[in-house]
Amino acid sequence: MQTASSVDYKYLREMVFSYSQNVLDPSRDYLFDTRLSKLMQRNGMTQVEELVQYLRFRKDLALERAIADAMTINETSFFRDSRPFELLRTELLPRIIEGRRNLRGLRFWSAACSTGQEGYSIAMGLREHFPSLAGWNIRIEGTDLCAEVVERAQAGRYHRIEINRGLPALFIVRYFDHVGEDWTVKEEIKKMCNFREANLCGSQFPFQRSSDRFDVIFLRNVMLYFSQETRRTLLANIHRLLAPDGILFLGSSEQPADPSIWTAVLAGGTCYYRPK
Ligand SMILES: C[S@@+](CC[C@H](N)C(=O)[O-])C[C@H]1O[C@@H](n2cnc3c(N)ncnc32)[C@H](O)[C@@H]1O
Repeated sequence: MQTASSVDYKYLREMVFSYSQNVLDPSRDYLFDTRLSKLMQRNGMTQVEELVQYLRFRKDLALERAIADAMTINETSFFRDSRPFELLRTELLPRIIEGRRNLRGLRFWSAACSTGQEGYSIAMGLREHFPSLAGWNIRIEGTDLCAEVVERAQAGRYHRIEINRGLPALFIVRYFDHVGEDWTVKEEIKKMCNFREANLCGSQFPFQRSSDRFDVIFLRNVMLYFSQETRRTLLANIHRLLAPDGILFLGSSEQPADPSIWTAVLAGGTCYYRPK
């Protein structure tokens, strides 16, 4: 049996980097074998080496993309690290809502939304705790690089195990329909959200115009896969798209690459960022 060489893995690491800017550590090269096994099977291949041979000789953008997608880490859950959601409810949103009284609109972005639980958590939180927003124009945008997770987010259908991670029983009853082993997000929540594919580090940023500005951006647990330079560029773009009184949440182990343009605020056992 042939095994892939370090040169083959390096080729794949570089290819993934050029597509998604995700930096993969060589100590985890074994992940290529497991994560790409289905994809190789579908293409009549059994070994990583075969796959690399194939890619070296012909440009196959769809296959490259599928490889980059397969190497993403899509871990997420409803109300993940509950504190940002709690702080939004108790302190931050009442203030932002006051400031948007005339506009009667709010915009949220779950950047790197994975299978959609973050976006739906925001939507359910708004429905549950801010009934006065009925009649407002509320948009929750969710974007992710990986086509498969975006499809799942759009479907809003979750297995019992996913539902049982972090979702209060009251929310399950109120905002989901039970379908066999699965639970589907109710239409009233779904229609507040819009999920689509987008690369945070590609040549076209997911949102361009300053009229696209957001009140709250969740950019959590994705920057840890990026280089320092990529983080800097990404956060400069995010800064541009956040309202002057807007809020940025990062993952609990992440920080802005350029602290000079952000004010960090510690509150409610968590940290959020305001544009300077
Ligand atoms: C660990 S999940 C985080 C999900 C959610 N934000 C959370 O904290 O629960 C990271 C997500 O980032 C996405 N991702 C990785 N690189 C990306 C890129 N360049 N552009 C957009 N999304 C990316 C992955 O597909 C994955 O779904």
